[in-house]
Amino acid sequence: MTVSVEGELVNMVSEEQTKSKLALLGGEKAVKSEQGDMFAWPIVTERHEQAVLRVLRAGQMSGFEITKEFEKKYAGMLGRKFGLAYHNGTAAILGAMYGLGIGVGDEVIAPSLTYWATAAPAYTLGATPVFADVDPETICIDPKDIEHRITPRTKAIIVVHYAGMPADMDAIMKIAGKHNLKVLEDCSHAHGALYKGKEIGTFGDVAAFSLMTSKSLAIGEGGILFTDDRQVYERALLFGHYIRHDEITLKELKPFVGLPCGGFKHRMHQLSSAFGLVQLELYPQQMAEIDRAMNYFCDLLDDSSGIKPMRPPKGTNTTKGGWYFPLFKYVTEELEGLSLSRFSEAVRAEGSLCNPGCNKPMHLHPLFPTTSASFGGSVSFVEFNRAVNFPISKNKINVQIHILKRLHKIFQLLLDIWSPEIKCERTPHLLFAE
Ligand SMILES: Cc1ncc(COP(=O)(O)O)c(C=O)c1O
Repeated sequence: MTVSVEGELVNMVSEEQTKSKLALLGGEKAVKSEQGDMFAWPIVTERHEQAVLRVLRAGQMSGFEITKEFEKKYAGMLGRKFGLAYHNGTAAILGAMYGLGIGVGDEVIAPSLTYWATAAPAYTLGATPVFADVDPETICIDPKDIEHRITPRTKAIIVVHYAGMPADMDAIMKIAGKHNLKVLEDCSHAHGALYKGKEIGTFGDVAAFSLMTSKSLAIGEGGILFTDDRQVYERALLFGHYIRHDEITLKELKPFVGLPCGGFKHRMHQLSSAFGLVQLELYPQQMAEIDRAMNYFCDLLDDSSGIKPMRPPKGTNTTKGGWYFPLFKYVTEELEGLSLSRFSEAVRAEGSLCNPGCNKPMHLHPLFPTTSASFGGSVSFVEFNRAVNFPISKNKINVQIHILKRLHKIFQLLLDIWSPEIKCERTPHLLFAE
């Protein structure tokens, strides 16, 4: 059967067929469209192609004028004074750290559950990451686990709005204020997300975003930092943007202009900037559609056993932006021991993506415990081994609802493991045993 929605076509088996047998057990796949087509991201339109071609034809690849336009436009949308673009998000975090004055002997407190680029650039500056636990509700740094890790060397708290979930910024900003610490927001998973109605990336002293190709706001490879603080901006310029040193006005920085203080060349490729300018125009609409579809999906799953949607409480005006890798909590105990890997395998067999887990907590990697002078004990709680991740087809946004409805039916079948369809074949324990 082919479902047509607003002109888009998605191949699916009928409801009856889906109910009769799971694909894992030899039934027909619920979603038959090619995954490459369904999950390709970002969406590349003729406008993107034209924008990129213009740069190529004008021979502007190594300049920075289009990049400046991109920075200005994005900073304007976010309501921040300064934007500075980078060739990737890791470099933007390094530049942000230098901008804040983080240096030799300093410590930065970061969540253990994140991608390494949140914290590892501290080493480049001679500083040390100290890891804190995550709050199981937000899956972001737990404000209750920050204060006891603060020492006289602590310079900053790094917040990650993990998997699109905004961190508890009220509590974090209060702690930072009390201890006179800087706050760096790593917003790489949460472009456009709101915390109590205010956009993430506007709370800390500086915010850094990855813009690489899988991110919600994707421009190819790229990163950007935002700040309202001229000193942070100019220090970041000094560190890795020597070609733009004419923008430096601060007296203490002036003697150093001409060479990059960090020995880095951080500028963004102009092709990415041109692509990004188009993305900025399309993203708000895309984000709104993804948000609508994912909330719909979560509403369907809200009362299911075993799968708990991870999203901000309703009515708080806190949102997940573009839902970069949507995470759900998986509770094996509620599913008669059905393993996460087996569950994921069954969903994948139906033609959807589904991956168990998320980033491995960093404090478990030998790089950190062996080099971190002040690792403050063990992190008590991490959710990484209880998470399941259903990447949604952002490409076919206008057929989301139908795909999700169908996937929900599959989940119900899987979750309701005593259902006659499955029970009549074998006992659930045997069926789903690892
Ligand atoms: C939380 C987080 N921070 C930083 C980065 C680094 O960004 P990039 O890959 O653009 O260097 C990533 C990238 O995946 C990330 O997930």
